[in-house]
Amino acid sequence: MSFQDSMKKKKLFNPEGNDTLSERKIVGGNTTNLFNLNNTSFKWATKLYRVMMENFWIPEKVDLSMDSQDYSKLDEHEVRAFDGILSFLVFLDSIQTNNLPKISEYITAPEISLVLAIQTFQEAVHSQSYAYIIDTLIPSEKRSKIYDFWRDDEILFKRNKFIAQVYQDFHDNDSNENFLKVLVADYLLEAIYFYNGFCFFYSLASRNLMQGTADVIKYINRDELTHVLLFGNLIKGLKAEGAMLPDDFVYDMFDTAVKQEIEWAQHILGDEIIGINGKTTEQYTKQLANKRLTSLGYKPLYEGFDHNPYTQFEKIGDIHGHGDVRSNFFEGSVTSYNQSSSVDGWDEI
Ligand SMILES: [Fe+2]
Ligand SMILES: [Fe+2]
Repeated sequence: MSFQDSMKKKKLFNPEGNDTLSERKIVGGNTTNLFNLNNTSFKWATKLYRVMMENFWIPEKVDLSMDSQDYSKLDEHEVRAFDGILSFLVFLDSIQTNNLPKISEYITAPEISLVLAIQTFQEAVHSQSYAYIIDTLIPSEKRSKIYDFWRDDEILFKRNKFIAQVYQDFHDNDSNENFLKVLVADYLLEAIYFYNGFCFFYSLASRNLMQGTADVIKYINRDELTHVLLFGNLIKGLKAEGAMLPDDFVYDMFDTAVKQEIEWAQHILGDEIIGINGKTTEQYTKQLANKRLTSLGYKPLYEGFDHNPYTQFEKIGDIHGHGDVRSNFFEGSVTSYNQSSSVDGWDEI
């Protein structure tokens, strides 16, 4: 199939389909579209299903009462960063919730459609969690400003548009090339875009500020890492079949995303937040991109950027204190955080 060819959208029910495992493919397979989950081919998806289900959480169970007082203690730079980052996160989860079902229309392995459905659910919960934070902390006359931040902020608008355009192009023309670009854009969103923002919330928590918000972010962070694994596996699977975009194209998309993330993070965080400045922002983003590229089987793009300047913040994100949650995920082990029992430790499963 050439990159310009249209993708094959699966039928809702396909009596001529063949569900034998040897015939199962990520895309372009001939599935009946029946969810026979007793026989699965992609074991990573089956494993991920269990992790994602274990991660279930309810935003409103997190106590934000102290955060209301803390919000009024933030200085003007911290308030601007808090509001702007929240606005960006609202955008990211909105577009994910809306776009993931479109991707799933082309996925011909039911075990992968299953985890995409759970991811869609989780992105919707993330949107609800932002509404809960905004409703609890932000004075009513200012709430719409957070949702509308991108309208007046050119840098935020530019980066929101970049990702939205890649998604929109696929909605308008479901070529093979546009589908693969969506997978890479989705990965960049999940794997790069969230993390300077997450570190900002952890930096406040490290100073005993906005701890409830940081708890919500930890739950979101943990979900997002499973999404990184999901899209990472889709990209690796298609790469192994020789069906991925040319490497140069992937590097170009990475580099654009990294530049935009650095530009945005430097713009919204600046040099005024304790522990964060323009240099650490660049260092953090480039080392993260190198790590993500390596995990996908690509070479790192940014020579000399292997030091993570925010390990102290990432430790805050690991609420059970069993080490770096990010590296645990990338090493294949999984940390679980059971909301129903307590909020005071990570358990290995
Ligand atoms: Fe999300
Ligand atoms: Fe996500």
